[in-house]
Amino acid sequence: MRKKFIVGNWKMNQDLASIDSFFNELSLGSCTCETWVAPQALHISTVIEKSSKAGKSFFVGAQNISENSNGAFTGENSAETLQDLGATFALVGHSERRSLYKEDHALLNKKLMHALSQNLIVVFCVGEQLEERKNGMTEAVIKYQLLEGLKNFPTDQLSQSRLIIAYEPVWAIGTGEVASPAQAQEVHHFIRKTLTKDLDLDGDNTPILYGGSVKPSNADGLLSQMDIDGALVGGASLLGEDFSKLAQIASKLMK
Ligand code: PGA
Repeated sequence: MRKKFIVGNWKMNQDLASIDSFFNELSLGSCTCETWVAPQALHISTVIEKSSKAGKSFFVGAQNISENSNGAFTGENSAETLQDLGATFALVGHSERRSLYKEDHALLNKKLMHALSQNLIVVFCVGEQLEERKNGMTEAVIKYQLLEGLKNFPTDQLSQSRLIIAYEPVWAIGTGEVASPAQAQEVHHFIRKTLTKDLDLDGDNTPILYGGSVKPSNADGLLSQMDIDGALVGGASLLGEDFSKLAQIASKLMK
């Protein structure tokens, strides 16, 4: 059985006081699912420190990384430095990076390959726009994002254990609009098949997370689907109380 994950994407939110409150509210108790969080890069060290003091098995990662190795790249965050700080993963291809920062398939592929070369786990995000869904293009769009983004992905086991896919329909991100469990399951199944058939990867063992307006009230329906291995959560991951509820739901489904 695949593990379940709750991965928080804090985006450009949280200050030191709200990070404190997050950890004060956090109550993971007997949770057995993976609990990860991607704060702003500037807060990564703080969050790593607080999470270890809180005694939780909690992984911290970045929302974005440079495609380059350390060097003259003013303003960028390097995978090497993340490693150095104790971060373990990076999101690549979040729809806000694709749309607001014009990150294209080739750049995302470079970021992914560079993160992998630095032993980071990559959470690679894909998802269709509302227009694309309405025009029946969901599968074609997702397949293209996977084929381009994961081009030349090494097929060895260690590299494959460092890949997580997040399916985030763009129309469901931060909108309160959520894919139905059946809609999400259908795409997750398609992603798994595409990884295996078109990319020669181990689709059956690759965690595939759903993202887009996940909250404690809708998580159970989504996470109980066969091909949904957890959630990438924005808004509802900011408060320790909601994050804990999500982790409890995910953990219960692992039993
Ligand atoms: P949301 O964001 O949960 O606020 O919709 C999800 C994401 O962007 O990863």
